[in-house]
Amino acid sequence: MFFKLIVLQASVLLGLLGSASALCIASPVSVRLPPTFDNGLSTLTWLIPPIGWDFGYWFQTNSSSPNTFQRNLQYSSVPLNPLHPIGPRTDLSSFQTVGNATVYTSYGIDSPLAPGFVAAYNYTGTGILGKATDFLEVLAWGTDCHGVGYRVSHSTFTAFTQTPASVDVLSRSKRGPDATTLTKIQHALIALGNAEITALASALGPALQDSGRDGLPRVESCDDACQTNENLLPLLGGA
Ligand SMILES: *[C@@H]1O[C@H](CO)[C@@H](O)[C@H](O)[C@H]1NC(C)=O
Ligand SMILES: *[C@@H]1O[C@H](CO)[C@@H](O)[C@H](O)[C@H]1NC(C)=O
Ligand SMILES: *[C@@H]1O[C@H](CO)[C@@H](O)[C@H](O)[C@H]1NC(C)=O
Repeated sequence: MFFKLIVLQASVLLGLLGSASALCIASPVSVRLPPTFDNGLSTLTWLIPPIGWDFGYWFQTNSSSPNTFQRNLQYSSVPLNPLHPIGPRTDLSSFQTVGNATVYTSYGIDSPLAPGFVAAYNYTGTGILGKATDFLEVLAWGTDCHGVGYRVSHSTFTAFTQTPASVDVLSRSKRGPDATTLTKIQHALIALGNAEITALASALGPALQDSGRDGLPRVESCDDACQTNENLLPLLGGA
């Protein structure tokens, strides 16, 4: 709701000024290294997101390792206990594969790291993904030229699923952040001077979002059966 309001205000303003392409009303781009890389040093100068800023629903629009067989990845995160928003949070992805309409889910819990490491979590899967664990750390967040929210995060290598380390871009819109804003974020991440983050930021490419889930309900909760993650068995090839 809040984001629609911002989009409306921005587009009214753009209409009045009549130069939509020249104007960009984005929030300041503020980036940091994953706090586990530098013991939280670059977090000291980072704009810290308000608590719960990234709760709710997202579309993954760009990634350093876009999965070529995967499409329409949507993501939901809410606090496990609504009265404790800085505590553990749900980590629910849902997606389709190319050429198949089935919507798969993947669920785990993100537990906050040490208190100094804000917006940094230990992801641990549930059910058949119980041995899948990695660090998920927010590197950048804000709103793009159109007032649409984005979140850029780093995930460490997940040994159990052999998922490479990645930088991933989530947007409140299926279209993703505008190119100007995304380029600024990429350059700012590269300017941090860390070899791994530079490589991942440079490798960012589109993560396919097509019309395959248009009109389908959002996947915002995960019941006991969903939490077994067994729907992923056909994709994991017996892992
Ligand atoms: C889509 O995936 C489901 C679940 O794995 C499978 O049963 C079905 O045969 C697949 N359909 C196509 C068209 O490949
Ligand atoms: C994250 O937490 C889980 C469960 O407490 C633990 O087994 C795992 O080793 C931790 N992962 C990392 C990368 O620290
Ligand atoms: C990000 O993804 C969008 C489509 O999802 C694409 O148009 C754009 O070129 C991508 N940009 C980068 C830097 O990956």
